[in-house]
Amino acid sequence: GLRKKEVNVLCLGLDNSGKTTIINQLKPPNTQAQEIVPTIGFNIEKFKSSSLSFTVFDMSGQSRYRNLWEHYYKESHAIIFVIDSGDKLRMVVAKEELDTLLNHQDIGSRKIPVLFFANKMDLRDAMSSVKISQMLCLENIKDKPWHICASNAIKGEGLQEGLDWLQDQIA
Ligand code: GTP
Ligand code: MG
Repeated sequence: GLRKKEVNVLCLGLDNSGKTTIINQLKPPNTQAQEIVPTIGFNIEKFKSSSLSFTVFDMSGQSRYRNLWEHYYKESHAIIFVIDSGDKLRMVVAKEELDTLLNHQDIGSRKIPVLFFANKMDLRDAMSSVKISQMLCLENIKDKPWHICASNAIKGEGLQEGLDWLQDQIA
């Protein structure tokens, strides 16, 4: 049959935002990890959608590992940026990291799609995806397709909507 198009996706965001939990949910059920631990450095995960074969670089969000992110910008075809919707205190840190990413020489000039997950929407004090868009000034991203989805990675809610958008951007 037809080979699926191979795409590299870089999964970024602060530590504890839920990156690994999201990627784990997107993998086939029989390959999902039972327990999620904080990522050290990064992990490489693979899964398929209807038309694409994804290789995801699931990066650690801990500050001591964030300098690894930029080494993978060049070879990435898409970015998933995860935000903990309940982490009001660190929203400015998330914005700083996002701005650094978007201004990087290997990203800034490219029309690479950026999918945001406003994750942990189940938390009682979670901010809405609209509020998060405002805080991160997403409307200022003019040169790249971007999309934000509210998600609950533990239940797997909102993830397929995001992946469908990403697939449409790449296919
Ligand atoms: P690093 O690897 O350290 O960068 O963190 P990460 O972004 O990969 O986060 P991880 O997936 O390890 O999740 C961190 C914690 O958040 C875990 O305890 C998860 O169970 C929890 N978590 C992830 N997604 C959700 C969610 O949607 N809702 C709630 N309530 N908790 C979540
Ligand atoms: Mg992780």
